[in-house]
Amino acid sequence: MAQNVRISASVLAADFSRLGEQVRMIEDSGCDEIHYDVMDGHFVPNITFGADVLASISNLTDLPVDAHMMVTEPGRFAAQFAAAGATTYTVHAEACSDLAGTLTDIAEAGMRPGISINPSTEAEAVIRFTSIVDRFLVMSVEPGFGGQSLITETLSKIGVLKAAGRGRELDVAVDGGVKVENAASVIEAGADTLISGTGLMRYPGGAASAVQAIRSL
Ligand code: DX5
Ligand code: ZN
Repeated sequence: MAQNVRISASVLAADFSRLGEQVRMIEDSGCDEIHYDVMDGHFVPNITFGADVLASISNLTDLPVDAHMMVTEPGRFAAQFAAAGATTYTVHAEACSDLAGTLTDIAEAGMRPGISINPSTEAEAVIRFTSIVDRFLVMSVEPGFGGQSLITETLSKIGVLKAAGRGRELDVAVDGGVKVENAASVIEAGADTLISGTGLMRYPGGAASAVQAIRSL
């Protein structure tokens, strides 16, 4: 059932003192993507890293990188992140005053546009953008911190978004609290991509065995 699911590793759960090594480890573990969480201390109550740190790690891997922009008005940084090696640029619907314009800017910068929604935002609020995005990212925790527990109720949005995207290649990703123990329910709900930080990086047997366990579900 889970052979084809994409697995995206959040570097938020990495040991930052060895970030380069950790990125190589993620690649060797069989993950399909690097998930890069950008927080501005305004849209969310936490701050992480920006385009310069991304540039220093994107050269180390052939994996695609999704920049998850938990940032107010993220369109301001699209060109910078494209130059730093982001392949997908996922913005929050709640953080953009002109979401359609922001998605256009992202595509013009040469990245795949994505829309993320908080647990309290309904899927219906973003369905009209289906034709101009490559990814919907359903937040299964409140954005801002790794290591939280998945909010099961958020998973019902996946089916709504998949149905809206029927007929075109549209990736629905789930982010927050995803781990080996609940991966089957996230996949059953229809997710194409599982994004996981602590669930992979802190898995007792290591990230490679977590990836293997998910793929053998
Ligand atoms: C939370 C971030 C997530 C986070 C997930 O705001 O968007 O990507 O890294 O971490 P885990 O998998 O530990 O919940
Ligand atoms: Zn994220």
